[in-house]
Amino acid sequence: MRVAPPATLDELRRLDDLAALDAAAFGPAGGSGLLQEFAAQRGRRVVVALGGGDCGSGGGGGSGDDDGDGAPLLGYVLYQPSSLAVQIVRLAVAPAARRRGVGRALIQAAIAAAAAQRRVACATLHVAPSNAPALALYRACGFADDAIVQDYYGRGAHAVRMVLELGDASHGTPQRPPPEPG
Ligand SMILES: CC(C)(COP(=O)(O)OP(=O)(O)OC[C@H]1O[C@@H](n2cnc3c(N)ncnc32)[C@H](O)[C@@H]1OP(=O)(O)O)[C@@H](O)C(=O)NCCC(=O)NCCS
Repeated sequence: MRVAPPATLDELRRLDDLAALDAAAFGPAGGSGLLQEFAAQRGRRVVVALGGGDCGSGGGGGSGDDDGDGAPLLGYVLYQPSSLAVQIVRLAVAPAARRRGVGRALIQAAIAAAAAQRRVACATLHVAPSNAPALALYRACGFADDAIVQDYYGRGAHAVRMVLELGDASHGTPQRPPPEPG
């Protein structure tokens, strides 16, 4: 498995594959239209995980050229870096590729890519309280429950807001060295 460099949705050449994966993961709540809608906001980036090849992570930036023509698409994460936080907007792993670390690798790649560009202090996301696999993944990645957001997904459909505080080490800007003693 390998993780390609971040790209905008427009830069990816495999939109149909991405839409099919999204539909397989989310059912009627997924697919091309919704994916385009989610990705339309300025600044949003996609990282894809591809089958085959060596393990690795290309979280440090890129142009979307490396979206692995021919390699099976295992999953993707859509994220939005902002001035102090990175928001995980959407995440899906192909059913056949689950429980192999793909989701975790995608979360880590998105955070690393955002932190390489900006001074990111935390990562945030929303998840349905009934989505046990996603809750387990996010907790395994270090996210903590922050609040219940009423009606987040529509009337009566609440979300758990989760936050991962990132230490100084994950910030994109180099830290100033401590002053010399004396
Ligand atoms: C949620 C999802 C992205 C997880 O992806 P994944 O690649 O299977 O997750 P990983 O293999 O990286 O899991 C990492 C850890 O998360 C936890 N985890 C993930 N899936 C789990 C499950 N079904 N049950 C229990 N724990 C789970 C485990 O701690 C796991 O570590 P382990 O396998 O060593 O025990 C995937 O199930 C999915 O695409 N679901 C449908 C779409 C979705 O719900 N997206 C999230 C919307 S907020």
